[in-house]
Amino acid sequence: MKISLISTSHRKNSQSNRVAKILETIILKNNNKINFYNLDMGEKQIPLWTSEKKQDIKFWEKEFKKISFELASSDGFILIVPEYGGMATPNSKNLFLVFNNGEFFHKPGLIVSISSGNGGAYPISELRASSYKNTHIMWIPENIIIRNVEQYLPGNHGELIPDWLDDRISYSCDLLTKYADYLKPIQKLINRKDFSNGM
Ligand SMILES: Cc1cc2nc3c(=O)[nH]c(=O)nc-3n(C[C@H](O)[C@H](O)[C@H](O)COP(=O)(O)O)c2cc1C
Repeated sequence: MKISLISTSHRKNSQSNRVAKILETIILKNNNKINFYNLDMGEKQIPLWTSEKKQDIKFWEKEFKKISFELASSDGFILIVPEYGGMATPNSKNLFLVFNNGEFFHKPGLIVSISSGNGGAYPISELRASSYKNTHIMWIPENIIIRNVEQYLPGNHGELIPDWLDDRISYSCDLLTKYADYLKPIQKLINRKDFSNGM
């Protein structure tokens, strides 16, 4: 099984990518046979979707195909989404416009929202309200909010990180991998190209 960990920050050395690496170790503790693809959008600089693909031919002809393949061969997704201006990041939306060739169809996704303060609810409600129509991503019923994210370091959390958070994160990651396993057959059973865009 392969899980894609996608950091949708716009910054290099982001908290999102730091969290992504920690989540990988947590998942491996539950199941050490899982493979990962890590996409750090702060580093990769995926261009904003445009129909003028000639403007960035290098990306569309090379990098795009590589990333699309990695996503298409994944069985589940974890999006780490910082709250920017009370919203999901532009990268988290752009991801779904750029990779729109069935990479996410009928596969489970876990939203992990992060905030350096007490925010983090808005990216979840925003992504749950939209984002699934054409991607057909299936957000699982659990989500995670890591508030005061700079203090999040399993084994050595700062005082603002509650004790129960580790168990909740481990459970939610485990749940995602179970959905990924059990949803695999549906991709073969139902994948009608004529209904590739939702209503
Ligand atoms: C442009 C920008 C807008 C932000 N807006 C919010 C916000 O609305 N709510 C919030 O809780 N934190 C906000 N923050 C703080 C982020 O939660 C914090 O910087 C977080 O670490 C960003 O994650 P990153 O390092 O993965 O980019 C904002 C940060 C940036 C850079």
